Amino acid sequence: MTLFVTGGAGFIGSEFIRRGISKARIVNFDKLTYAGNPDNLAKVAGHPNYSLVVGDICDPAAVLDALPEGCDALVHFAAESHVDRSILSAEEFVRTNVLGTQVLLDAARHRKVARFLHISTDEVGGDLAPDGFFREDSPVRPSSPYAASKASAEHFVRAAAHTFGLDVVITRTSNNYGPYQFPEKLLPLAISNAMENRPIPVYGDGLQVRDWVHVTDNVRALEAALANGKAGETYHIGGGRPMPNLEVLRLLLRVMEKPESLLASVTDRLGHDRRYAVDFTKISSELGWRPEIPFERGLRDTVEWYQNNAPWVSRCRSGEYRAYYERMYADRESAATRI
Ligand code: NAD
Ligand code: TYD
Repeated sequence: MTLFVTGGAGFIGSEFIRRGISKARIVNFDKLTYAGNPDNLAKVAGHPNYSLVVGDICDPAAVLDALPEGCDALVHFAAESHVDRSILSAEEFVRTNVLGTQVLLDAARHRKVARFLHISTDEVGGDLAPDGFFREDSPVRPSSPYAASKASAEHFVRAAAHTFGLDVVITRTSNNYGPYQFPEKLLPLAISNAMENRPIPVYGDGLQVRDWVHVTDNVRALEAALANGKAGETYHIGGGRPMPNLEVLRLLLRVMEKPESLLASVTDRLGHDRRYAVDFTKISSELGWRPEIPFERGLRDTVEWYQNNAPWVSRCRSGEYRAYYERMYADRESAATRI
């Protein structure tokens, strides 16, 4: 089996490759942006099944050059993935997430790729009512520029299936957590700040609800969707226990034996969605997948990973990262969270 993976040097894509490398030849096509880190693939770098092509998914010639004719699947992770960055500037999100996806769809058609697995997000559904859950047939009404770009990409994927008969499967995952997540997202940011006794920024009242799924559970679901998902279908993947951010952070601080005084309230994110929660009945009943890692256990293991990989964290938190946080907090009143 040969898989062409985009964005495999990021958080979720690298977990997919680390798990899959003994079962398939994998070409990892990645631009290595600030979020793409070859260190995430150190464990597989010398494996005969693995190759890395550094390139941009918006570059049709580079994609066609790297994409093997007739390969078994194109697994599309590559994206700009952070909501706060999309609020600072959406341009790169439109370019990579929308144009890049269309370039890949065209290339997949030309190279007769057997299946296109498109990795999307629950956030395409926008803000939920207080006790609502996203189903696969819920309306697509994204709120953030990031979610709008991912929703738009999904439309192009469905259009390629409808117009050209491309075999596509779309997965929409809730918030992932686990090792190798870039420390700009809530949990790795909170863990790495707490490790250094720095304040943890809590946006607004901290009562926004997110549905956390461990990255290994998510990747098991992606493997199931790739192998047995029905062409043209969308599958939701979630953790089964939506929680407010403050509850998650308090639990984290207990696990780390750190004081709650580290929690620092900051100005809310613009347009901040109050609730995401995923109904994953469809993938459970059709493909037999369920999340297996209880949140407390996954959180403990994740904390341990970050504690054991402090050099990885500090390499992430240099260079471009600092410039981003300067921009991010430039117009917020709280200086407490500056790094
Ligand atoms: P990430 O930000 O950690 O990694 C993104 C990867 O894509 C990086 O390796 C980066 O170098 C690469 N990339 C970016 N632009 C590129 C381009 N133009 N050409 C080639 N490569 C490029 O992202 P992640 O958290 O691993 O997310 C992977 C996918 O899953 C994304 O599509 C994201 O929208 C989706 N998703 C993520 C989550 C989450 O909680 N992290 C939840 C739901 C869906
Ligand atoms: P994030 O990890 O950015 O994921 P998403 O916005 O895609 O859900 O944020 C998760 C939640 O945590 C979200 O409600 C915003 C909030 N948040 C904070 O309160 N403080 C932070 O520093 C960050 C990055 C996020």
